[in-house]
Amino acid sequence: MLNLIQEAADFIRSAISLQPEVAIVLGSGLGNLTSDMEVKEVIRYQGIPHFPVSTVEGHEGKLFCGTFSGKPVLVMSGRFHYYEGYSMKEVTFPVRVMQRLGIRFLFLSNAAGGLNPSFKMGDVMLITDHINYFPENPLRGKNIPELGERFPDMSEPYDKQLRALVLQISAEKGISLRQGVYLGTSGPSYETPAETRFFRTIGADAVGMSTIPEVIAARHGGTRVAAFSVITNCNNPDNMLQTSHSEVQRVARQAETDLRSIIYELIKRL
Ligand code: HPA
Repeated sequence: MLNLIQEAADFIRSAISLQPEVAIVLGSGLGNLTSDMEVKEVIRYQGIPHFPVSTVEGHEGKLFCGTFSGKPVLVMSGRFHYYEGYSMKEVTFPVRVMQRLGIRFLFLSNAAGGLNPSFKMGDVMLITDHINYFPENPLRGKNIPELGERFPDMSEPYDKQLRALVLQISAEKGISLRQGVYLGTSGPSYETPAETRFFRTIGADAVGMSTIPEVIAARHGGTRVAAFSVITNCNNPDNMLQTSHSEVQRVARQAETDLRSIIYELIKRL
């Protein structure tokens, strides 16, 4: 495993001209971020040794290197979802490679269904904590000590200092930001009314199908994390509306401007 990670990292290092400390995983809600970047290199996932290839509609598989907000960044456009059939090791492989490249900060976004009754479609939620409801943990199996310890601490998966900075920035910009717990489930089917009720009851504010595996791998390796959910639909167990992928993508695109400007300022102040 370590040699595969190393080979992918070596390939990327030889292809890029900067040394980024910040990586961004573009999920729904940040797709256009690269248009504000001064892009130096674009690497297709297909060309990177051992990298999985993304299949889901609306997610292209490219790694961008350049500057954003004046700082060198590595941007993953297209992520790997567990529901696509990838193993947890594949889903988290890019995070491992980026850690090998010297990344210290990882920012992620996703689309999620709102569970908190006060949430509205189009809201952006700063993730404060998560519930790993995937059937697996990406760290299951033999631990690789070079990547992190056997039983990593998870008392603060989403960096407190980064969250404080994000709240300060959003207040200054007059952007209203929700905060809450993200529950990650395998999907790809959306939740039933009973599952929605259950997820609310156990303390989740939003539900989605990504992010948690990457965050666990990031924390295992000591990378500091901030993550955001775009609330693309609101799930009320007593009045469930149909959820469609195209509607989820449309709402996510609308919230992009706010989220992009928060991340821009966050990187500037690191
Ligand atoms: N459930 C799970 N994942 C999602 C949802 C949802 O309602 N909306 C966007 N991603």
